[in-house]
Amino acid sequence: MRYDVSIVGLGRVGLPLALSFADKGLRVLGVDKDPERLAALREKRMPFAEAGAQELLERVELGLSDRVGDAAEAESIVITIGTPSFSHIEIDMRDIRSALDDLLPVLREGHALLLRSTVAPDTTEFVAGYLAKHRGFDIGEDVFVAHVPERIAAGRFLEEIATLPCIVGGVGERSGEVAGRLFEVLGAPIVQTTPVQAELAKIWTNILRYATFALPNLLMMDCEQHDANVFEVIDLINRDYPRGGMAQPGLTAGTCLRKDFAFSEERSPAPGMLLAVHRVNESVPRFLVDGMKRRVGKLSGKKVAVLGLAFKAGTDDERDSLAHKLVRLLERELADVAVHDPHVQTPTSGFDEAVDAADVVVVATNHREFCTPAALRAIRSQSREDALVVDPWDCFGAGQVFAYAAEVQALTAAS
Ligand SMILES: NC(=O)c1ccc[n+]([C@@H]2O[C@H](COP(=O)([O-])OP(=O)(O)OC[C@H]3O[C@@H](n4cnc5c(N)ncnc54)[C@H](O)[C@@H]3O)[C@@H](O)[C@H]2O)c1
Repeated sequence: MRYDVSIVGLGRVGLPLALSFADKGLRVLGVDKDPERLAALREKRMPFAEAGAQELLERVELGLSDRVGDAAEAESIVITIGTPSFSHIEIDMRDIRSALDDLLPVLREGHALLLRSTVAPDTTEFVAGYLAKHRGFDIGEDVFVAHVPERIAAGRFLEEIATLPCIVGGVGERSGEVAGRLFEVLGAPIVQTTPVQAELAKIWTNILRYATFALPNLLMMDCEQHDANVFEVIDLINRDYPRGGMAQPGLTAGTCLRKDFAFSEERSPAPGMLLAVHRVNESVPRFLVDGMKRRVGKLSGKKVAVLGLAFKAGTDDERDSLAHKLVRLLERELADVAVHDPHVQTPTSGFDEAVDAADVVVVATNHREFCTPAALRAIRSQSREDALVVDPWDCFGAGQVFAYAAEVQALTAAS
């Protein structure tokens, strides 16, 4: 074999993983169907931001191919392709199926096919069944199939790959052991379980986060109805209370949280509960727009500066970001929207240009550079005298979701 491991899908999960294996001395083939991505990698250019990855890309050797069939040149094949959700509340397996069909004719005895993508329960057994049905393999003896889910946070990949317990759910006798042997080179403890438990552990890791943030988001909306302050209520809940732990509100989304719940919801014994969590998080942009209108009147012709497009602080990942939804809703109000985000690839205005003469300034992403006294001073001096500041993250520390810039500055100066 020319390679030890092939990684199919060089996205935010696959590429840092490929680089990490190569860093451990494995011969790695990276496969992706996107020619632009491959061109960037040939030029040793990271196509997205991930701490430490550029330096690693420059240092290690990575074979590259655009043909999934070439992945069979390695004993272990790790699938890190995207698994979106249809609006039918159902996993969209088309990319995974397409890669499987490309691999079917070239798989041989001894190959390990490891699913790193996030999948709905029983997908790993489906993959094993597909290979058994079409090629007659005895899975766990001739060919090995396992789910090895990814739970790393974007931006912390290289740190967490070596420390987060690595869950392995193998099909049949020996798949778990074979998958564990590959992943143990990365240094994290290996935790063996069944395929469906590995799948459930991954999606429920994300469901836990999604639901955890829906509660303060719903509380924020509840507080508005009662003219109460959400940050004070959260402090009352949590302060010196051993069973507290309410999280802070914000715009909760991103490519994983927004769809992974659907992989449980598609055959939930309590249908609707997670959809309600989704609806709460999805309604935050509308809540913010309505809150602006209640305070400054119609937004038509008013300038609204949106700070942040990324789905969370410190990342350049805009996929499924609620900041984009916020911008769309503001545009539907005929507001003049100016956006600033120094991290993302979408071209945006500079900070000064965005906040200049703004009637409203919204912190949509709590990037560190926005949450500073200097940024607040700039808003105060450059936006309109009576500018409204919308800060669901409490990025400025004034403890107000909606407050006028002068008020925010006075409150932060006093604290
Ligand atoms: N992004 C995250 O932080 C994260 C974290 C944990 C788990 N996951 C899961 O990992 C999986 C991958 O996520 P991602 O964010 O890396 O996705 P991504 O969209 O960034 O990357 C997927 C890559 O696969 C390539 N691809 C798609 N179909 C292909 C095919 N048939 N052949 C070859 N290449 C193909 C695409 O061109 C793309 O480069 C998903 O299941 C996701 O839910 C993502």
